[in-house]
Amino acid sequence: TSPFAPRHLLSIADLTPEEFTTLVRNAHTHKGIVKSDTGGLPLPLRSSLSGKTVSLTFSKRSTRTRISTEGAVVALGGHPMFLGKDDIQLGVNESLYDTSLVLSSMTSAIVARVGPHSDVADLAKHSSVPVINALSDLYHPLQIIADFLTIAEVNLSSSTTSLGLEGMKIAWIGDANNVLFDMAIAAAKLGVDMAVATPKGYEIPEQMRQIIQDAAATAQTPGKLFETNIPEEAVKNADILVTDTWVSMGQEEETAKRLAAFKGFQITSELAKRGGAKENWTFMHCLPRHPEEVSDEVFYGPRSVVFREAENRLWAAISALEAFVVNKGKISLS
Ligand code: CP
Ligand code: NVA
Repeated sequence: TSPFAPRHLLSIADLTPEEFTTLVRNAHTHKGIVKSDTGGLPLPLRSSLSGKTVSLTFSKRSTRTRISTEGAVVALGGHPMFLGKDDIQLGVNESLYDTSLVLSSMTSAIVARVGPHSDVADLAKHSSVPVINALSDLYHPLQIIADFLTIAEVNLSSSTTSLGLEGMKIAWIGDANNVLFDMAIAAAKLGVDMAVATPKGYEIPEQMRQIIQDAAATAQTPGKLFETNIPEEAVKNADILVTDTWVSMGQEEETAKRLAAFKGFQITSELAKRGGAKENWTFMHCLPRHPEEVSDEVFYGPRSVVFREAENRLWAAISALEAFVVNKGKISLS
């Protein structure tokens, strides 16, 4: 890579613990300002992408990621150009290499949702503008900035530099997928313990386990990763119970097999009680949600923070665009 190569955000693994913390803190700051005042983001940030186009190239469906990233570009004064899979030739009739050169010659950043992670990595490799991963089969960094904002914002004070989450425990009950991988990487970096329960045959792949261990090595006091096939074991002493769909986009053909394999993994109040979650546990889910992975009672109940979590995608997207597009990958407190 040339010294002028842009910095990309493909995974939380690309960030130091301090940088990740700063992205979350900046998201919190922007949320606070915009929600307490009607004037939007302060200048010059509000017009920092004025006259600039950001391409949003999505090869899969999206509600939250599309809305939050389009909204974030607008909040920064720029023009979001949404390019769905039927609009452009992303990897279909034109190579990713060619697409990357063309997009980066006319737009200021590329926000890309892809199937295989190698697609977004390829775009990044050849792009002369920052590429932000809007979900690949391995990672979902924008989601995880929003998730840690959701966890931290309740107690976040401006007098500390950390997010204050050290020693907390998150229990993930379900599929070992893209959202989990970036969450486990972030948790390791922040000193948050993570217990993961997946059915047999659906565990974290060895290569990803190694990446999570490498992430832990970047932290002074890393969070620990515990893995099991028994949901109750993961739930024990957890502050947060979290899950995601059992059938990610692109896995639709495996639906029947997966629904059978994940039987018994639904998050319910009974599971939390049986497993011995902390008294005041909360529930998180990146959405879209299906009833099989979490009961209505939990999903719509008072412990659930899922809709605040969804809204936080906007503030996370603003923070990421500020850092990677406006400030060219220099991540500092705003
Ligand atoms: N959580 C999330 O990324 O949702 P969408 O797929 O709707 O963007
Ligand atoms: N694991 C899900 C996340 C969607 C936001 C998927 O990849 O479809």
